[in-house]
Amino acid sequence: MSPTLERLFSPLQIGPVALRNRIVSTAHQTTLVAEHLPTEDFVAYHEARARGGTGLIVLEATAVHPSGLLTAHTLAGYRREIVSGLQRVADVVRPHGTALFVQLFHGGREQIASPPREPALAPSAIPSLRFHVEPRALSGDEVASIVDGYARAASNAAEAGLDGVEISAAHGYLAAQFFTPSLNRREDEWGEPARFLLAVLEAVRAAAPALALGVRLSADSDEARAVVGTLAARVDYVSLALGESSTYLGSTGIVPPPPVPENAIAGLTAPFRVGAPVVATSRIVDPVEAEHLLEEERCEAVGMTRALITDPDLPRKARDGRLLDVLRCIGCNACIAHYHAGTPIACTQNPRTGRERTLPRPVPAARSRRIAVVGAGPAGLAAAAEAAAAGHDVVLLERAEQIGGQLTLAERAPVHEEVARSLRQNYGRLLEKVEVRLESEADVEAVLGLGPDAVVVATGARPLEPELMLDSLETLQAWDVLRGPCPQGRRAVVADWGGDASGLASAELLVAAGNEVTLAVGSAAFGETLHQYQRNVYAARLYRSGVRVQHHLELVGAEGGRARFRNLFAPELETTLPADLLVLALGRVPVRDLSETLAAEGLDVHEAGDCLSPRSAEEAILEGTLAAHRAARVAEVGSPSG
Ligand SMILES: Cc1cc2nc3c(=O)[nH]c(=O)nc-3n(C[C@H](O)[C@H](O)[C@H](O)COP(=O)(O)O)c2cc1C
Ligand code: SF4
Repeated sequence: MSPTLERLFSPLQIGPVALRNRIVSTAHQTTLVAEHLPTEDFVAYHEARARGGTGLIVLEATAVHPSGLLTAHTLAGYRREIVSGLQRVADVVRPHGTALFVQLFHGGREQIASPPREPALAPSAIPSLRFHVEPRALSGDEVASIVDGYARAASNAAEAGLDGVEISAAHGYLAAQFFTPSLNRREDEWGEPARFLLAVLEAVRAAAPALALGVRLSADSDEARAVVGTLAARVDYVSLALGESSTYLGSTGIVPPPPVPENAIAGLTAPFRVGAPVVATSRIVDPVEAEHLLEEERCEAVGMTRALITDPDLPRKARDGRLLDVLRCIGCNACIAHYHAGTPIACTQNPRTGRERTLPRPVPAARSRRIAVVGAGPAGLAAAAEAAAAGHDVVLLERAEQIGGQLTLAERAPVHEEVARSLRQNYGRLLEKVEVRLESEADVEAVLGLGPDAVVVATGARPLEPELMLDSLETLQAWDVLRGPCPQGRRAVVADWGGDASGLASAELLVAAGNEVTLAVGSAAFGETLHQYQRNVYAARLYRSGVRVQHHLELVGAEGGRARFRNLFAPELETTLPADLLVLALGRVPVRDLSETLAAEGLDVHEAGDCLSPRSAEEAILEGTLAAHRAARVAEVGSPSG
């Protein structure tokens, strides 16, 4: 074990349960759920994290009552069939020495489900902003029936052989709605803020006395701070998260993306240290930082949820002193984007996440092949790393002077700097066995000269050059602004089609460099294709920085020192904006001439990523990985990935 990580790898007693270490995978919905029950992919997902050495896994928010099913993929903890489903998970997790809890949940007025929605229930009839839910107030009998539901779900968990349960009272869900005076205007007994949560804790303890019992609270909530003292003697641990579901701003804290700083929870734990052990979570990605948090007595255990989504083997690697081998979570939030989209959990950096049963880890190839990879953006990096990990002889050709492709542009944007840097750093490590040739033009002769058995082409994309009359204005691509140097002292209009972050990022850089900036948004919503938490971060930064935002404008031309737009919905309405610089963020087009030429030469060519059609780094890395399998003739379905 690394001597510096003694606390992280020391045991911790949580009520009746002894954890072997202090690394926790906190509750997170995986969407690996069918008919409100765990699937085999769910089982394999958690087994991988147990095998990797996690001390405690808290299974995802599990509804205690039919009215509390947050989405079509929420586990139904109140149903009898959940017992065998949870048993399957316990059977594979516990042999690895990992403790297994489940989070018991009711969303109250927070409802993400698509229509037809069940009626929403809450302490009082107060609409919720983010999901536009208009609940009705629960009757006293309904409150009692939901409390019974917690007891039933806890008893199901005990029967399934789990070690503990955690009551979700964070993020503004039902229990928090009861203890938030502005949301609880009841005049009956349930109007007393802590009454509901205390009733739930009592019912759960009575139904499952042998289980550990915890409560999850939002550390940035004044109401949670007010109530925690009352709970302390009744729980075996307090799990701390951040954020609140009902507002755009609050929701960003639930799974905070960079540039929210690492260890964002650290300064907020003190008021919650009321006796029970504290599990602190949010942006803890580095085991050494986690050790510091324990050392400083900020908490007794650390939630490293996205860190484990990315690298299920993080605990084992850290314990063995192999810190440099840890694949670091880059904070891109594709994982939670999958949840919001209702698709199975996945990770940009680790394509095996959610595919534990179907995407095998690289195994040494029977015969090493020589594989040329062209382009060192995410797709090419993934292909090269994957092929090298299977023992193939890999040469990676990159025209630029560093690896990264579009990541090198993203690294210039304050919001994406950490995401892009971490991704490049991860690959720096994964490419150790790859021959990387930078500033190397990969024309047909160069590739043929390598004598490859197969070629992966990942030549990426370039910005669209629109066929519009723009001559009367100086025009730059958003990529040029990101690449630098950034223009100064100009009156700039950024025409942003809303399909990626380059328009938003260039607007932020331009205004910071002293330009007067108008962002003309050419989509129905600002930052339409970004994950909502990243979009929220951008909105706050751009409004604060003084960028003027104009909505629903599609660029049609430029004339006499003005950029011309038409309204997206009423095209006869024209708007002109004064400018002496027009910045274009109008989408990308694939670069794929080389693959066609190489295929014509009879080479075994496999394309991946943006050259097939520009999308995000997640698709690029997945396709690069799969292209390496095809190039290496590795079967794509095989032994479990672990
Ligand atoms: C995909 C996903 C789903 C989540 N679902 C839940 C949930 O069911 N219950 C909960 O309390 N928190 C949920 N969270 C929040 C996490 O438990 C954790 O607090 C958050 O990811 C911040 O910690 P991290 O920076 O270590 O990832 C979810 C997070 C993610 C990424
Ligand atoms: S998808 Fe991004 S944020 Fe989520 S776990 Fe993977 S690297 Fe981290």
